[in-house]
Amino acid sequence: MSEKFDIFISYSNANRDKMEKIVNTIKFYGVSCWFQLRDSKQHFIEEINQAINNSNDFVVFLSNESVSSLMVRNEIARAIFQQKKNPSYDIVPVVLEPLTEENQEIINLFLGSLNWLYAEKYQDTESLVLAIFEQAGITFKTDEHLQSTYSTEKEVEKIRLKEQNRYLNEYAIRHLEHIFPKYSSPAVLDIGCDTGENILVRFEKSNFRFLIGVDSNAEAIEIAKANAAENTEFFCCDVTSEGFFRQIFSRMQRHNILGFDIIHISAVLLHLGNAEGLLKNLYMLLSPDGTLFIQDEDDGANIVYPHSQFFEDCFYIWEHSKESGDRSTARKLPAMLRDAGFNKIDVLSSAITSVDFGGKYREELWDLYFNPDLWSADSASYFDNFEAFNLLPKVKERHEQMKADYMEGKYFIMLGMFFLTATKN
Ligand SMILES: C[S@@+](CC[C@H](N)C(=O)[O-])C[C@H]1O[C@@H](n2cnc3c(N)ncnc32)[C@H](O)[C@@H]1O
Repeated sequence: MSEKFDIFISYSNANRDKMEKIVNTIKFYGVSCWFQLRDSKQHFIEEINQAINNSNDFVVFLSNESVSSLMVRNEIARAIFQQKKNPSYDIVPVVLEPLTEENQEIINLFLGSLNWLYAEKYQDTESLVLAIFEQAGITFKTDEHLQSTYSTEKEVEKIRLKEQNRYLNEYAIRHLEHIFPKYSSPAVLDIGCDTGENILVRFEKSNFRFLIGVDSNAEAIEIAKANAAENTEFFCCDVTSEGFFRQIFSRMQRHNILGFDIIHISAVLLHLGNAEGLLKNLYMLLSPDGTLFIQDEDDGANIVYPHSQFFEDCFYIWEHSKESGDRSTARKLPAMLRDAGFNKIDVLSSAITSVDFGGKYREELWDLYFNPDLWSADSASYFDNFEAFNLLPKVKERHEQMKADYMEGKYFIMLGMFFLTATKN
């Protein structure tokens, strides 16, 4: 067996529930570990010995059952042997529960000279796991857990986004209809256009001369291209990359324009690490009397009445899902737009509510935020925090009843969805 692991996990099956939580948290940090469900079959012993040798460090979880287990004692003996050969091989004992005097004495013979971690001293699993990493000298990449990894490639996200847009288009079109009369046949740019379907719905009445859409999702762009009309063009590019400006500029030259009349960017800025850089580019791409139209989100403006823990849990899950981006983006936009050079910034509206349009889209509002069946969350790695993953079963259990109560009008919901415009003059 040649597979390498960061950590070998030694434990007793009697502690399996606790262990699964700890192991999920370790894996969530991108640290690999050998953790097998226990079996008494002899042929596993050789495999276990090899896994101990092929791991960088060894963590043993001590309980009265694990200290009494011959298997665990064999693993500890192996690990000590391994450490003798390789001094950088760390052994980290973690005490899961108070040990009897006899067990304490036995295990002291093996591990008495090492620094022990006591699980009860840590307020949650995450803090314990981070202490284990520290003692074993394990580094993990924090950035990867903070960066948004949004993608419309997953089927449920396609459905969720469609629900969201069915509802949000009413607001967007209402605002856009005030902008359209300013331009007789505008040149339009859509940033993060996905399959292009939604921008074409929103701009149906704009009489645009041509419309260019750009998205980093190649599959979505293929669909957009397949359905493109003569005056629409879609291309695949990361709008935060250096190549973006060059690619868009060559298209502007082809269309013989110095700038776009309307630049539309909906539900994209929250997913970008560098929104400031993009806004500076968009300032240069906009014609002198052009309009930048932005739709973006801010959870700080979320309100639900009457209070229920269910909504708090959903908001927490969204905040900590790696797909959902920076949930406080909208409040930062006026300052970012000013820094990018824009002179006139208008917040057209800053919330959507469950009673808008006579409550016509009440269900869409629910599904865009509170329906766990429309979340891509199927593993801890979907989150930047293990607690959010832990809340999922609780939300799923209550969802049906909560939705029924909401549909009967028992809850009022307001969500921080902003529509803004920015112009140069
Ligand atoms: C939530 S969707 C919104 C799609 C569409 N604008 C709408 O309102 O329905 C976000 C879109 O931004 C795209 N996107 C995210 N990061 C991007 C980047 N760096 N460059 C280009 N597109 C990006 C995604 O691929 C996705 O299609």
